[in-house]
Amino acid sequence: MKKETIYPAKNIAGGVELPGDKSISHRYAMLAGLAEGTSELRNFSAAVDCHSTLKCMSALGADVKVEQNSVKVTGRGSRGLKSSWRALDAGNSGTTMRLLAGILAGQNFTTRLTGDDSLQQRPMKRIVGPLREMGADIRAREDNFAPLEIRGAKLRAIDYKMPMASAQVKSAVLLAGLFADGVTVVTEPARTRDHTELALEEFGATIEKHGKTTSVHGLDRSAQGGSNGSGKLIGKSLDVPGDLSSAVFFIAAASLFPESTLLIHNVGLNPTRTAILDVFASMGAAIQMPTLRTAHGEVVGDLAIKGALLQGGVIEGDQIALLIDELPMLAALGPFTEKGIEIRNAGELRVKESDRIAALVENLKRMGATVEERPDGLKVEGRKAGKLHGAEIDPRGDHRIAMAFAVAGLAAEGDTVIRGAECAGVSYPIFFAELNRLAER
Ligand code: S3P
Repeated sequence: MKKETIYPAKNIAGGVELPGDKSISHRYAMLAGLAEGTSELRNFSAAVDCHSTLKCMSALGADVKVEQNSVKVTGRGSRGLKSSWRALDAGNSGTTMRLLAGILAGQNFTTRLTGDDSLQQRPMKRIVGPLREMGADIRAREDNFAPLEIRGAKLRAIDYKMPMASAQVKSAVLLAGLFADGVTVVTEPARTRDHTELALEEFGATIEKHGKTTSVHGLDRSAQGGSNGSGKLIGKSLDVPGDLSSAVFFIAAASLFPESTLLIHNVGLNPTRTAILDVFASMGAAIQMPTLRTAHGEVVGDLAIKGALLQGGVIEGDQIALLIDELPMLAALGPFTEKGIEIRNAGELRVKESDRIAALVENLKRMGATVEERPDGLKVEGRKAGKLHGAEIDPRGDHRIAMAFAVAGLAAEGDTVIRGAECAGVSYPIFFAELNRLAER
């Protein structure tokens, strides 16, 4: 177990390039493995999670070559995956497990899919249910947890009304829809990230979107007249934008100190991901977007951040699904804000890489914050409740908890130690080195 010590900082200054977006990297890797020809995926995420996806695609027969942050994937066509005698290992990655399950449901072979201790405790019923409705035979421990055994089948299209706002569930059903007879329709209760839809379009699938409803044509059917009419996915050369969810740790760090000036290059600014920037803006953060462009359906730009006095506030309702991964950082900023931060309607946080509500409450208390734990959120008192002090943090093996408290530690009194800090590698292997480089002391 690696410990990282965070020393108090005076401000944050300089420029940073981020690892490629994790969500987009997973999707490009999977679709490239289903496509015909070679895809070149530049700025592919360095996250351990995305490399778990690459290993799974390779075990399923795709040819994967990694050269620094560029990955070449030669697919076997949508009907060309082969069975793996070994169980596929999704590691810590819920996205790998849930999205791959959608693809595996439509194959003509059986796959065992497993993950680390944390992933084996996360709910899978949410994807098992609709995939069974489509015709797959799936076995799960206690009918809800990995390891999963997925017996693929010829799938039928369904019209699925999702009971929860989850991009992973939406994506699992849409990916299974590629292998279904007809048009698969998914309606979400609140908007979630749409990278699967955009990536499917890029690789040549036929997709339709109307508000919160998305449809995908089965590949066999689009051969009879989809928008591209080819009925197959074609390999692509793609650039992955920087990961906004990783950028958020630096935006938060820079905001903490009046003298900060930070430039973050090439950040993915897809509108289904930027709710966090709206929240920061509404709290008084000083964030500018000097450049903006689109690439492969995704919006990309630079962010310039200066220090600011954050107001804090309440985060709730439909906002939650759009900034679910950013909530740990927002909560850990609470004690540095004027009014504090309250998060409501976020029960999903309890089934992420850790129970993030419990992990946040425990570690905020360790640093001296005043916090109230709620079943579906938490309330963190602002500056008036007193300054935070350094403490030993237990991130419970959760990358976003480790990084959030590293940032809080920069503005606390005394040193902060992050236990088991290597877990940051799940999304950002060089996070601590980059934070240290940008922090002026
Ligand atoms: C992700 C969706 C989110 C998010 C996760 C990545 C994705 O999960 O928390 O880190 O890439 O689709 P849910 O859709 O289950 O909320």
